[in-house]
Amino acid sequence: MITGASSGIGRAAALAFARAGDRLVLAARSQAALKAIAAECVAAGAQVRVVTADVTRRETVEQVAETATAAFGGIDVWVNTAAVMAYGRFDDVPADVFDQVVATDLLGAATVARAALTRFRTQGHGVLIFGGSLLGTVVTPYMSAYVASKWGLRALIRALRLENRDAADVHICLVSPGAVDTPIYRNAANFAGRFGKPPPPVASAEKVATAILRCARRPRATVTVGTANRVINLGFLMTPALYDALVGPLMRAGGLSRERVAPHNGNVFAPLAAVDPQSRAHPSWARPIAAGAGFAALAVLLARRYTS
Ligand SMILES: NC(=O)c1ccc[n+]([C@@H]2O[C@H](COP(=O)([O-])OP(=O)(O)OC[C@H]3O[C@@H](n4cnc5c(N)ncnc54)[C@H](OP(=O)(O)O)[C@@H]3O)[C@@H](O)[C@H]2O)c1
Repeated sequence: MITGASSGIGRAAALAFARAGDRLVLAARSQAALKAIAAECVAAGAQVRVVTADVTRRETVEQVAETATAAFGGIDVWVNTAAVMAYGRFDDVPADVFDQVVATDLLGAATVARAALTRFRTQGHGVLIFGGSLLGTVVTPYMSAYVASKWGLRALIRALRLENRDAADVHICLVSPGAVDTPIYRNAANFAGRFGKPPPPVASAEKVATAILRCARRPRATVTVGTANRVINLGFLMTPALYDALVGPLMRAGGLSRERVAPHNGNVFAPLAAVDPQSRAHPSWARPIAAGAGFAALAVLLARRYTS
């Protein structure tokens, strides 16, 4: 089961599971995008069911679970990568947009957890994998609803793990990438005046999908994907004043593009019709260059800090 399968990491995970011979139920709000990815999974040899569902609507999530049970007899692994983002200062983001990001990324995840864990506990096994984020352990400006949701998600998962310690074969996993090259940045609601972009270093959706597949086979509580995550986490914890001084300028330089954009709600309330789910935030040649530049900048800043 994958909720959020129509794009980005969820889409890549669907293909990875399909190639591994798994049976799939794919869910998201956009039926057209789901059908396209389902066709690719079928071509890879998988049996696939498609269900349109909105994680902010409990009854549609239950419907997804029922479809999986009816089609395949149960759910072994549920991956939730459904998420939306909103850029802008907290006071510039309309309250209903802020609320909908939290409703999708945090409360939607809770709805998925409720549907999955009830079934996993009854059948005695199951792996629930959430798309977390580096922004669940560090903070950046201009993305407050997303950051608050990802911190909340990490806390929720920890609490759920504690409550399910008695179910030895029920696993709750958090796969937390740094920046990943997916459409989420372009599709985000935007009240920052400039389109968002993944700050370097940028991983591929396929790399995160591989980590998700591995987690499904050999569950681990927390998996991080991203070459700079550990350094950034360390900087956040060990040198908070330096982190706070740098994160704003770095975000404006690396996390927002130069391309101007009028305020808009992006895909927060409904999927964008014309989005190509394969579209990337960066051309592939840009990734190694961006990663190198990001590392160099970080190394210089840290070296300055420790040699001054
Ligand atoms: N890209 C990154 O840099 C990055 C970094 C760290 C963590 N992550 C996390 O990785 C996960 C996947 O992100 P992504 O980058 O792959 O984003 P994406 O390409 O935009 O995919 C997000 C998916 O969520 C679905 N979705 C959105 N709202 C939904 C709703 N209300 N109900 C059901 N499905 C919904 C979207 O499909 P529809 O629009 O068709 O519903 C889409 O399939 C998220 O949890 C994200 O926070 C991403």
